[in-house]
Amino acid sequence: DDPATLKPRPPVVTVMGHVDHGKTSLLDAIRHTNVTATEAGGITQHIGAYQVTVNGRKITFLDTPGHEAFTAMRARGAQVTDIAVLVVAADDGVMPQTVEAINHAKAANVPIIVAINKIDKPDANPERIKQQLTEYELVPEEWGGDTIMVPVSALKKQGLEQLLEMILLVADLQELKANPDRPARGVVIEAKLDRGRGPVATVLVQKGTLKVGDTLVAGSVYGRVRAMLDDRGNRVQEAPPSTPVEILGLNDVPEAGDIFQVVEDEKLARQVAEERLIEKRQKELQVAAK
Ligand code: GTP
Ligand code: NA
Ligand code: MG
Repeated sequence: DDPATLKPRPPVVTVMGHVDHGKTSLLDAIRHTNVTATEAGGITQHIGAYQVTVNGRKITFLDTPGHEAFTAMRARGAQVTDIAVLVVAADDGVMPQTVEAINHAKAANVPIIVAINKIDKPDANPERIKQQLTEYELVPEEWGGDTIMVPVSALKKQGLEQLLEMILLVADLQELKANPDRPARGVVIEAKLDRGRGPVATVLVQKGTLKVGDTLVAGSVYGRVRAMLDDRGNRVQEAPPSTPVEILGLNDVPEAGDIFQVVEDEKLARQVAEERLIEKRQKELQVAAK
């Protein structure tokens, strides 16, 4: 895009970390809702995508179920994250999935902010966490390094404002921009088949503005956007860059990590989607034959 068309956009932050270290709780606390209470067994089954407003500025958060989705997106060449918030439980420390998350973020060249969570626990030891993280080249600022580490408690809602401020500070350095005045393009965050509504996809708009009535191709599926819902379930007509929305109207369920693109004409959309579907089926057959 022509630099003159670019306008500031909110940062997209992915919350990563070991199982049960408090990713969803932290997002709940930030959003003042309670998603974990409604999750089956307290395990995140899907990626939640939320937007919050801090001092009049928006931040988009993605919650991950482990790192499969993040990996799938990267494998498809989709870079969705501007900043990774690495959640490490202060009473548990660096665990295998913590290390995986660090490796993913580093490979994707995404800056890491560490949220040392559960500091309310009697056996919390934030200094030990910092020590452990230095082994992965994450050295806290107070020790002469350049990694921001914020002690937080999702349970007691402590340290959240500081964490949000740090996210905005890091985002400022990135000068994130996108052109809102073009056909939308972005990534499928998650998708499912809903009994009543048909295929439903949560997408993150990265460039352009997605509108109800737009025709799009997402991986090997296509369709005309029949309705859009924001992260609180409200119907919206438009979604500018860095906005997550649920869309209805696709002919089938796309895959997490699929790139979507708005196109001019529905016939072309169908043709592209069908060609991709054939390619996909051929690849599946090749894999099955091995
Ligand atoms: P997965 O999505 O399953 O990987 O877990 P998660 O990282 O999203 O963790 P989740 O938010 O489900 O929290 C796991 C457990 O830790 C829950 O029982 C939470 O209540 C608890 N927990 C989360 N944050 C805190 C905290 O700050 N303090 C304390 N004491 N407990 C917490
Ligand atoms: Na959990
Ligand atoms: Mg979770």
